[in-house]
Amino acid sequence: ERLVILDTDPGIDDAMALLFLGGQPNIRLLAITSIFGNAEIDVTTRNALYLSQRFGIDAPVYRGAAMPLSIARHPSPRHVHGDDGLGGIDAVGDFTGEAAPGEASERMIELIRANPGKVTILALAPLTNLALALVREPEIAHQVKEVVIMGGAFGWAGKRGNVSPVAEANIFNDPHAADFVFNAVWPVTAIGLDVTSQCVLTSKQAAELADRGGEAGKFLWEISRGYEDVYRRSQGVDGCCLHDVAAAAWLTHPTLFRTQTGPIRVLTEGIAIGQTIQKPDDQVFGASAWDGLPSQSVCVAVDHARLIHTYTQAL
Ligand code: BDR
Ligand code: CA
Repeated sequence: ERLVILDTDPGIDDAMALLFLGGQPNIRLLAITSIFGNAEIDVTTRNALYLSQRFGIDAPVYRGAAMPLSIARHPSPRHVHGDDGLGGIDAVGDFTGEAAPGEASERMIELIRANPGKVTILALAPLTNLALALVREPEIAHQVKEVVIMGGAFGWAGKRGNVSPVAEANIFNDPHAADFVFNAVWPVTAIGLDVTSQCVLTSKQAAELADRGGEAGKFLWEISRGYEDVYRRSQGVDGCCLHDVAAAAWLTHPTLFRTQTGPIRVLTEGIAIGQTIQKPDDQVFGASAWDGLPSQSVCVAVDHARLIHTYTQAL
């Protein structure tokens, strides 16, 4: 059984990942921590509460950061996730939930300390909460089992950014936090656009989910109508990318992926801000700025057909 803290900004693909994880027998969600990103923090927190209540996911929701560490907040991507962060269909209605008492990064620290060596953090959003937890309690870097991140665009599979030619949204939204998290001594696995952009749920598969995936399948189909349009118009894809689901699948089906190790840095200023670069461990330079940085894992290939099949079957 894996003990998981889910850090998330729901978010359509975040909702898809949450409903997948909620049904996995070997995953125990210790907490859901919210964060700004696909919408403002009030909205993502409310969405996390709504999703857990409606779909019977038994984990406290703690409210996290509203702003990145150093840069100004980029506007929410309403054109992708809707005004309500869940496809703009007002599924949440007048639901108002109360987050559990306590601030996300502090609760993260407590949960990690209470379960040393056992907690996996699955981060599907800007990395601000994780960075704040590390600043408050650097020791947690030695106590976490694994940090799994949906984020980055490393260029290994020819794929570059989705919010700039080189940057992926979660990293772009807080590049300083990301650079800090990648360079702490905890073991990180990054699942970036290199692989997640291959994980397309076709419109036909989405329709099948709506027909045969019960209440969850129908809900996911409803919230992803506009999201599919975005992919159709911007990339000519007949379907939508399950970015956050791909990262969740790393926890349950790691053999679907191939990884490469090496230190990671994030550009924190200039035209390429938010770009993620990995130096493979087997690439050796003379004395270089990469020396002494912790080696982390990046997913470079995925069996996307099996991943999508696994997802639809699980739902
Ligand atoms: C990531 O950014 C967010 O919009 C998605 O939820 C996903 O986590 C993809 O770049
Ligand atoms: Ca997300």
